[in-house]
Amino acid sequence: MRVLTGVAAIAFSWATVSVAWGYQPLVNYQLRCMGCHLADGSGQPGRVPSIRRTLVLFSASPLGRDYVARVPGVAQSPLSDEDTAALLNWMARNLSDLKVPPGFADYSEAEIHSLRDRPLVRVSAIRARLLKAAAAKPRTP
Ligand code: HEC
Repeated sequence: MRVLTGVAAIAFSWATVSVAWGYQPLVNYQLRCMGCHLADGSGQPGRVPSIRRTLVLFSASPLGRDYVARVPGVAQSPLSDEDTAALLNWMARNLSDLKVPPGFADYSEAEIHSLRDRPLVRVSAIRARLLKAAAAKPRTP
């Protein structure tokens, strides 16, 4: 019984610590996203797309941001809105071949909160449309 109480005490204090400190985006990525997107965000051909270009590209337009926040892996993760925003901002800076452009609008807790509750239907059709729109845009030097 004493052992059990000890275990419960450790579990409780660990939960308290992790709630108080939260996890760093890197750890959240490793725990929640990496299994599908791989350590460098390059994904798995035919199954999971690479986010190494798309995240920064899509984040440049309201429609793209809507998609990013509502795609199932993001919207349905158990991470809080705040941690999700921090995670996406970290991914854009650390797992992207495209540099975050000057004036890049970071995702905010409020933005994630307002978007993620609405389920995204026709995910691949919307993704294809975004890719087409991004390809049509003139390239910045
Ligand atoms: C079960 C596998 C899986 C997990 C876990 C997962 N994703 Fe995804 N993710 C996908 C797939 C597949 C897509 C492509 C859209 C779709 O079909 O859902 C995608 C698309 C995305 C996109 C849009 C990029 C694009 O090119 O379409 C982002 C951003 C993203 N995921 C971020 C995340 C984040 C952040 C997490 C962790 C919190 C995560 N994903 C967890 C499978 C996953």
